[in-house]
Amino acid sequence: MSDRLKELAATKAASYVQDGMVVGLGTGSTADFAIRALGARAEEEGLEVQCVPTSDASARLGESLGLDIQSLEDQPVIDLTIDGADEVDPQMDLVKGLGGALLREKIVAAASTREVIIVDPSKVVDRLGTRSPLPVEVVPFAWSLAQMRLMELSRLADLRQGSTGETFVTDNGNFIIDCHFDEAGIVNAKELELAVNAIPGVVENGLFVELADIIIIGQDDNQVRVIER
Ligand code: A5P
Repeated sequence: MSDRLKELAATKAASYVQDGMVVGLGTGSTADFAIRALGARAEEEGLEVQCVPTSDASARLGESLGLDIQSLEDQPVIDLTIDGADEVDPQMDLVKGLGGALLREKIVAAASTREVIIVDPSKVVDRLGTRSPLPVEVVPFAWSLAQMRLMELSRLADLRQGSTGETFVTDNGNFIIDCHFDEAGIVNAKELELAVNAIPGVVENGLFVELADIIIIGQDDNQVRVIER
């Protein structure tokens, strides 16, 4: 999907940021546009913010743009986070984690007063689990047991491979199992979120239920659609 629509949504989200805020930096190609927009505002307007990144990659990008990168330990209360998503449903619930950063993304979302999600229209779905698999972060010791249990909750549970065929490892040193569902998708996101997290060895999953406060969708007509909870 076009970078222009991602950038449109990202620029709108960055306009919500005010001087002195603590801002959560999301992860992924759409969130990168928001980080760049913040960098531009810092340079052009002298905007001063402290930023808590959701991944090592976003920390590096923010740093390269001169943003003040801080840890969650130092800034446990975040005013506003801007992040992407893999799926957004009509209840504003999300699937996240195709980029592998779901654990820190979920922690930062939970620490945020406002969670702003930026997407292009291809991410909008009627039901979660129909466009994207559900990523589940597991500790390496437990992956095989976790995969077996996840197979009982989904159609297929695949251990994620990296680009060169090795097992994908998250910033936290864990593995990801991607759970695929049939055409009906995920019937009850809240129940599934709890059931998945109850499996021994599962650290977190990519279902974000009732965490998004604002969804911004970049549209073909050069406008943005803003949905607020
Ligand atoms: C990262 O782990 C993800 O949650 C991303 O936010 C999500 O995959 C969206 O990424 P893109 O903006 O690259 O599609």
